[in-house]
Amino acid sequence: SSMCARSRMSQPSMATQSSLTLLLSLTAAAVGVLQVHGQRAPSLEGFITIDCGQEQGSYTDPITKIPVSSDAGFTDAGYNYNISAEYMKPQPQLAKTYHTVRGFPDTARGCYTLPSLVPGSKYLIRAFFRYSNYDGLNKLPIFDLYLGVNLWRTVNITRAEWTVLAEVMAVIPDESVQVCLVNIGSGTPFISSLSLRPLENTLYQQVNATQGLGLVDRRNMGGAGTYPIRYPDDPYDRTWMPQSNPNLWLDISTKEKVQESVGNLRLHVPSAVMQTAVTALNGSKSKTVEVSWETELDHVHPTPGCIAILYTSELQILAGNDVRQFNIIVDDGPTDLPHMPEYLVTHGFANVEPHKCLSRYNFSMTATANSTLPPIINAFEYFSVISTANVGTDIQDVFAIDGIKTKYRVKRNWMGDPCAPKTFKWDGLTCSYAISGRPRITSINMSSNGLSGDISSHFSDLKDIQSLDLSYNKLTGSIPNVLAQLPSLVFLDLTGNQLNGSIPSGLLKRSQDGTLTLRYNKNPNLCNRNSSCQHTKTKKNYKHAVYIVVPIVAVAVIGALVVLLILIVRKKKGATRRSKGQDHQHLDNHRFTYKELQTITDNFKIVLGQGGFGTVYDGFLQDGTQVAVKLRSQSSNQDVREFLTEAQTLTKIHHKNLVSLVGYCKDGMYLALVYEHMSEGNLEDKLRGRDHNDVPLTWRQRLCIALQSAQGLEYLHKSCSPPFVHRDVKTSNILLNKNLEAKVADFGLMKAFNHEDDTHISTARVIGTRGYLAPEYARALQLNEKSDVYSFGVVLLEVITGQPTILQSTEAIHIVQWARLHLSGGNIEEVVDARMQGDYNVNNMWKVVDLALKCTEHDPVQRPTMTNVASQLQYCLELEGENNTRHNANTTFYTMKDSSGIRDLPMM
Ligand SMILES: *[C@@H]1O[C@H](CO)[C@@H](O)[C@H](O)[C@H]1NC(C)=O
Ligand SMILES: *[C@@H]1O[C@H](CO)[C@@H](O)[C@H](O)[C@H]1NC(C)=O
Ligand SMILES: *[C@@H]1O[C@H](CO)[C@@H](O)[C@H](O)[C@H]1NC(C)=O
Ligand SMILES: *[C@@H]1O[C@H](CO)[C@@H](O)[C@H](O)[C@H]1NC(C)=O
Ligand SMILES: *[C@@H]1O[C@H](CO)[C@@H](O)[C@H](O)[C@H]1NC(C)=O
Ligand SMILES: *[C@@H]1O[C@H](CO)[C@@H](O)[C@H](O)[C@H]1NC(C)=O
Ligand SMILES: *[C@@H]1O[C@H](CO)[C@@H](O)[C@H](O)[C@H]1NC(C)=O
Ligand SMILES: *[C@@H]1O[C@H](CO)[C@@H](O)[C@H](O)[C@H]1NC(C)=O
Repeated sequence: SSMCARSRMSQPSMATQSSLTLLLSLTAAAVGVLQVHGQRAPSLEGFITIDCGQEQGSYTDPITKIPVSSDAGFTDAGYNYNISAEYMKPQPQLAKTYHTVRGFPDTARGCYTLPSLVPGSKYLIRAFFRYSNYDGLNKLPIFDLYLGVNLWRTVNITRAEWTVLAEVMAVIPDESVQVCLVNIGSGTPFISSLSLRPLENTLYQQVNATQGLGLVDRRNMGGAGTYPIRYPDDPYDRTWMPQSNPNLWLDISTKEKVQESVGNLRLHVPSAVMQTAVTALNGSKSKTVEVSWETELDHVHPTPGCIAILYTSELQILAGNDVRQFNIIVDDGPTDLPHMPEYLVTHGFANVEPHKCLSRYNFSMTATANSTLPPIINAFEYFSVISTANVGTDIQDVFAIDGIKTKYRVKRNWMGDPCAPKTFKWDGLTCSYAISGRPRITSINMSSNGLSGDISSHFSDLKDIQSLDLSYNKLTGSIPNVLAQLPSLVFLDLTGNQLNGSIPSGLLKRSQDGTLTLRYNKNPNLCNRNSSCQHTKTKKNYKHAVYIVVPIVAVAVIGALVVLLILIVRKKKGATRRSKGQDHQHLDNHRFTYKELQTITDNFKIVLGQGGFGTVYDGFLQDGTQVAVKLRSQSSNQDVREFLTEAQTLTKIHHKNLVSLVGYCKDGMYLALVYEHMSEGNLEDKLRGRDHNDVPLTWRQRLCIALQSAQGLEYLHKSCSPPFVHRDVKTSNILLNKNLEAKVADFGLMKAFNHEDDTHISTARVIGTRGYLAPEYARALQLNEKSDVYSFGVVLLEVITGQPTILQSTEAIHIVQWARLHLSGGNIEEVVDARMQGDYNVNNMWKVVDLALKCTEHDPVQRPTMTNVASQLQYCLELEGENNTRHNANTTFYTMKDSSGIRDLPMM
């Protein structure tokens, strides 16, 4: 495929391969060429530059001033080498980056991981290879290079002192990307340097999620001097190789700056590159300028096609009658419409569809009959198309298996992507490869791998795993109950370890109901649930299991009978007074002892949160249901009554947008509530991005969450008898489950009030949270459902703006005042959360903002009811659904086919 450094300029240029590669290897003495005159250098943010094989820490490249790192921390494979002394030439200019290499003699695949990327963004990745007999074997290797799980190209080292350049531009789907060197049985892979540069996503429209561009050649025509133009002249650090040949072309140049063409599609070719060009020689009768090079195509992995981009700009002020107009033919392609370069403005020409790569590429520019001047060309790029359609393993699985790899210091061939490409799958793993979607890890066999320490919690993050064999290692500690959560797990072998504690209830249950084959023999310190410790007589295990099954089944059967009896008796009594959803039996069935809570929470191991009442813990019921256990602390200022209020209230109230109670505990001094688990935490954290992996919520998601919370509150206000005021509506009390469905929580402060008799209730003290209190409540301790509406209005403003309730600028300002202040100017963008990146319908946004302002009216009478709020939000959500297609408005150029092979990039 791309063979920049090796492309030979046999005809018509005079440059030879060795002089070309020399350019790449020399760096000193070129300082003058690369200055940006009188301007600040562009940002280096996101640049990664690695001097492979270098141990001495970082330094600054003397010419570009780009910081260069050693490769420590980017790879855990291979070894560092100094190049052999005879190749330390040409002295003293050989760039430091070529003095050392990293070689990979004992791995099939050695990888570098480039971190901290923005998923879905475009990057340029460049690697240099200069062999220099670093290993003293004098054996020139051939090996493959991969970008993530996609083949990039074959690297064929043909001379020890030549430098091979590999460069690709691609969309990187994840937060990091691996560059892997693969041994194909033709010598040891090695690398001299590796770098990554962020590109703007609007550059190179041909680069998308499924295809990248491998560089074949990039030239600055008419470029004076011998040194390439790169950073800081080129903010993306592309390398523009100078090219001139007095036998073939006349160099022309200007000192004037060459502008970008105005338009959405920026080309960003540095002015310094565009300021020089070639045209036909003086006195030449020919109306054609031809640019042609030989390339070495990758015969091992032929690419689907090639793409050329030619850049032109007029550099001369034309005399009155002069016309410069020409047709362009790229390779064997069709003739394009005639083109007239614009004075000091860059235009680019690209073929829309990749064409067959030729072993000699050839641009032929011929003046039209009307033209009085010969054609001109300032720069060009030539690329081979590389497929990046293969996708890496599921990202959660990768995190998990990387955690496991690190914890147990696994060596083997655990490098690169765990499942892809199939041929490099990690030893001991089995993966599933769906037709669409990413590969998943389905089994792990780490039997007899000398693993020590406890069982990594990362195993429970492998959500598709079916079989886990950890037998005959030196694992210690207890068996994590979370393993019971793995929905597909059918085989778990823990035989022959040093595990202690008891078998977690969740696993035991799955083993008993036949959904899991569980082996745990030869763990001398393991106890079963009845705490009769297991001794080395391993046969007994099965009997224990039977003993446990029988009592549990018996208890269940008896329990069911009792419930049935009670129900029958109740029905006969005509228990008609039960209001909607009220079910005390339900509550009694879910009363836990403190001891049970200890089991459920694995002795209160994982804390989910902290509140005024005490601590919330993560737990699992025997049937594997994940729950949150809220345990009242001894020092809690919430009194027992308040606590029980919440328990009683919750058992009576069932709505899909209210957090439901699984059970409660009143065991001596211990009071606890057991709720359904809401895995995505609370809305406040989601909006503020507490969790740094969080993708910001989209406008649609925010609207859904707002609507669902409103429906939950509406239910409290309207459908409960007697009705309730929540009294503590706030974003931290809106919880989200794994589907980001919202449920309102924390009813501890809820008070019933009677619609008929009272319009409000007076409360003894202010309860609730600063920033959310309705003015009348804070002032006069008068409370009615409209106080909740006020608080909900504040929530709505937080949802829109992503701001906290109290903003700290020069002085603290409440979100309601802040929003009113900024909206008075009519500019909604000032308040809307920038993290939504403008992705919303403005009219619709105004509707929701209006609604939020109505909810936060000073006078409670002016505020809408929750029913009203819910129906308006519903309406807004429906509107938003209709406008989903507005994104694709301005991506016309590259998707539009043109009958000619080439066309002008648009000026929009
Ligand atoms: C490379 O050379 C440097 C000094 O020139 C030396 O300190 C270092 O140990 C050498 N590294 C290897 C891997 O031989
Ligand atoms: C590597 O390059 C040499 C010399 O150009 C050529 O003969 C050989 O076929 C190439 N090998 C591969 C695998 O491309
Ligand atoms: C990328 O571009 C190619 C060529 O235009 C096209 O066939 C392919 O569908 C595009 N892929 C995506 C994900 O847009
Ligand atoms: C070519 O002609 C231009 C004017 O047409 C002149 O300025 C330039 O010096 C000539 N160049 C050479 C190499 O003769
Ligand atoms: C380049 O292309 C032109 C037009 O297709 C053709 O006439 C010319 O012979 C080609 N030159 C080379 C070196 O292939
Ligand atoms: C060339 O000039 C003639 C007369 O001015 C005009 O009709 C024709 O369209 C021109 N051709 C091109 C290709 O611009
Ligand atoms: C795991 O590998 C060991 C030895 O490599 C083998 O004996 C055992 O059967 C494997 N386990 C599973 C579940 O395939
Ligand atoms: C289990 O083993 C771990 C470490 O090996 C130890 O810290 C812990 O106290 C043991 N637990 C029990 C219940 O024996």
